[in-house]
Amino acid sequence: MCGIMGYIGERAAIPVLLDGLSRLEYRGYDSAGVAVAHDGTVHVRKAAGKLSRLREILERDPVPGNVGIGHTRWATHGQPTDTNAHPHTDESGRFVVIHNGIIENFLPLREELASRGHRLSSDTDTELLAHLIEEEYRGDLVEATRRAVRRASGAYALVVLCAQEPHRIVAVRMISPLVVGFGQGEMLLASDIPALLPYTRDVLVVNDGELVVLTREGVQLESLEGGTVSRSRMHVTWTAEQAERGGFPHFMLKEIYEQPRALQETLMGRLDGDGPVVLEDVHLDAAFARALNKIWITGCGTAYHAGLVGRYLFERVLHLPTEADYAHELRYRDPLVRAGDLVVAISQSGETADTLAAARLCRSRGARVLAVTNVVGSTLSREADDVLYTRAGPEIAVASTKAYLTMLVGQVLLMLYLGSLRGNLRADRARQLVEELAVLPRKVQEILNHPAPVEALAREVADSEHVYFIGRGLDYAVAMEGSLKLKEISYVHSEAMPAGELKHGTLALVTPGTPVVVVLTQAHVYEKTVSGLQEVKARGARVVAVAYEDDPEIGKLADRVLRIPRTDDLLSPVLAAVPLQLLAYWVARERGHDIDQPRNLAKSVTVE
Ligand code: AGP
Repeated sequence: MCGIMGYIGERAAIPVLLDGLSRLEYRGYDSAGVAVAHDGTVHVRKAAGKLSRLREILERDPVPGNVGIGHTRWATHGQPTDTNAHPHTDESGRFVVIHNGIIENFLPLREELASRGHRLSSDTDTELLAHLIEEEYRGDLVEATRRAVRRASGAYALVVLCAQEPHRIVAVRMISPLVVGFGQGEMLLASDIPALLPYTRDVLVVNDGELVVLTREGVQLESLEGGTVSRSRMHVTWTAEQAERGGFPHFMLKEIYEQPRALQETLMGRLDGDGPVVLEDVHLDAAFARALNKIWITGCGTAYHAGLVGRYLFERVLHLPTEADYAHELRYRDPLVRAGDLVVAISQSGETADTLAAARLCRSRGARVLAVTNVVGSTLSREADDVLYTRAGPEIAVASTKAYLTMLVGQVLLMLYLGSLRGNLRADRARQLVEELAVLPRKVQEILNHPAPVEALAREVADSEHVYFIGRGLDYAVAMEGSLKLKEISYVHSEAMPAGELKHGTLALVTPGTPVVVVLTQAHVYEKTVSGLQEVKARGARVVAVAYEDDPEIGKLADRVLRIPRTDDLLSPVLAAVPLQLLAYWVARERGHDIDQPRNLAKSVTVE
């Protein structure tokens, strides 16, 4: 997620902008820039890399002035380069913008502007906004901005400076956050509260569809449709550290609750119209897809668990032989990878050593590598033939949550994409899946709105020594992820296995009171999994089921039920994983561990 900072007042703008951006660094970024209005011009300084590089540039080439905007970019469109860094301007340089979010109709807008002679200098969707404002400008920046954003769809927090109107900053919020800060004879703007705290604790949160006009004297709030909006200020009592977590006690909980928006961003611009899904950085064609004989999926940890879901999807829907293996296993077992195979390499960081090595090995044998990753410009994204960015935004907690959920949706998108190219996915079935995909963010939110059952269960199982997770098919893939979440942050020993495997040994470990989590969403194996549930229940296990909210049977079978909204069985992992993420989090809370930085673990295992 990008960081935004704006200032208008009596101070020199640059030190305030840099200080504010440095307080947003925890959000993760790969380039930074500032723009200051002074003497009839807006001066821009920007560079790929960290804020330190921007500071060096500003020391060499300072910019005076006390009206300015600043940005740290987490790349979504276009590599992290000096050119793609924000701010962006129109060709005249009169209109300067910074932006957080994704412009959904990026491609048609780009073509439309180019056809009217606009010369675009970057690969970003943001630059389009500066050109649109320039087109719409008739002497009033507020109206020009209003008209311009009506032509763009998607998620954005947009901030605009204009050389002709240096006395004000205009901004618009649509999904991506924006906050106004009230100083003494000065006003501030930021994407997140931590950037404002050194200057003020009196803030106003901008809502979706609202436009902000900031002057030295204060702020005017309007709706995009026109008309003023009044809203009272909020006095922030958080410490800076609490503010970085958005008021959540841990980044992990913040990221669990960011999942609805993360999924929205993963889907944004990719489910256009009735046609196949749009994957802007994937360039497979029908010939390749129809000739495809095998898909390999590889990754480590949670990424591997996401790949287990992909394996079921590709085999079940595309009827394509698909193998999922740990990258640290695949790379050493001389796999029979052939030219023409497709390798889906999954990695949130795009830097996991074993996953990079496995992908390189497969590529050396003629396979085509498609990366599913969250980091634009990561090693994996640069070495792969195709990339599907998950767009989850920076994931700070070591325990992966929103990256995992967006990896799942990324593979569903890939399945739809390949099914359309291969012509073996019925259009009505594809439409069904697309419609259900589109409402998943809301269904995840429904689960998050009712955490009480999970918190209560966590208190019951927090003292357990061993917890088992079982399921069949896609439910088994979810059980694997639920088990990893629990053990990596609560340090409770946990094991996941296919429900059918229990009686082949592990059942010996089930004693009265042993918690067993049974994931039960797959209709075609429901009865079979229930027999696994009854096997453990007969041994006195405390059975916790993850099941659909309208499942009429489960309440009679399980001791506790964590309910999820009904969805297509192929998409159920996206919902079933959420209660298990919360369970792991609340058990770890009960046990008082360092949740964001669990012992012995790193966020990205870049060594072998
Ligand atoms: C999961 O919660 C862990 N953080 C870990 O298993 C992680 O998924 C694994 O190390 C892979 O990381 P990557 O996705 O960055 O490649």
